[in-house]
Amino acid sequence: MERVSERKRESEPVIYSTIIEQGQQFVRDFQQRLENAPRVVKFNQYPTMTNAMARHKQYTQHEPANEGHIQHRAKRLAITSFNLREQIFPPGMKSGVHRHFLEAVFYVIEGEGHVIHDGIKYPWEAGDVICVPTYCVHERANSSNTKEARMLVSTHLVFELLGLESTEQIKVNANYRPPEGSQEIRDSRGELVGYKYPDGLELKIGADPKFQALMDAKKQVEFAGQPHDTYDRYCQTLVEQTRWRFSMPHVVKGKEVPWENTRMGKIKHLVSPYRPSPLMLYDVYVQEIPPGGHSGKHRHVSEEAHKILSGRGYDIQDGKRYDWDAEDVVAVPINTVHQHFNASPDKPVTFVSFQSRIFHHLGHGGFEHMEDAPDYRA
Ligand SMILES: [Fe+2]
Ligand SMILES: [Fe+2]
Repeated sequence: MERVSERKRESEPVIYSTIIEQGQQFVRDFQQRLENAPRVVKFNQYPTMTNAMARHKQYTQHEPANEGHIQHRAKRLAITSFNLREQIFPPGMKSGVHRHFLEAVFYVIEGEGHVIHDGIKYPWEAGDVICVPTYCVHERANSSNTKEARMLVSTHLVFELLGLESTEQIKVNANYRPPEGSQEIRDSRGELVGYKYPDGLELKIGADPKFQALMDAKKQVEFAGQPHDTYDRYCQTLVEQTRWRFSMPHVVKGKEVPWENTRMGKIKHLVSPYRPSPLMLYDVYVQEIPPGGHSGKHRHVSEEAHKILSGRGYDIQDGKRYDWDAEDVVAVPINTVHQHFNASPDKPVTFVSFQSRIFHHLGHGGFEHMEDAPDYRA
């Protein structure tokens, strides 16, 4: 009480904080940015790019976090919490080998091959989902010498916001060539450990010993017996979370997941909170809409993006129509009422959807269902 009365006697100058006003301005800017950002992008709208890992098309703009707030992501497509790109593997191509804290998800559009995750080999084929949990050494290969493989790929940006973005590029892919004019960087033993590009950017090759030591130490922690108190439960959680992602299947086999006749339509939920996977930040499903049909109508706080695998049609999002065709990518921004329509009288539509599960963990998960799909039968 004495302290309170002392503080009352102090005559402090009044300094105004503008944190609320800045927050309100941020939301206005964000909404405007989403309004201006494309809802539909075409496969050929952006060039195919190559990097140390593979070849890909970037449907979202990649900018380092220090060059702008997350809202600045919504340039190429009206989504902000995850990157979206397509990875293209020519026949026989192997990716580089790398590791990052970012969680990543791959939907195999076509082709077949395998991944190696932390030394374990998993086969994949069209219709499968490859799950890359946080901090997993991973590489992929197209096992066909005649056919291309393609995947829709996403990495989640929440890790980047938390300062855990760094990618350890352990090996570059066999076809990788640094930009013309780059200089090799070699260590004291003459080993190649990276390249300095003409614009000053550097590619480092090799594992980061600091992260490696941190994660190795975590892996060696044990917890025996029952927890005695709340503090013990935290200690047990570290052990459980570290082990959990190694015990889950890293490839979800599309053929093994049943189609469900839901109020939203015919859906196969490949990755969800209700099916074991090592992913915490994504939901993935495929949906089929019959000729001339349409989906149910709903809204969710989380954003999602669809890749149209076959057919043509349109979305109605908050009352506006957005037309799409096979190979297009369609964004559904946060808090948007949406419904999908098949515009063909004789061909089905299929699409795959990536949905950001971070909203679920923030207490804003689930769907607000508004209208049933016409062919739904309870
Ligand atoms: Fe990766
Ligand atoms: Fe949706």
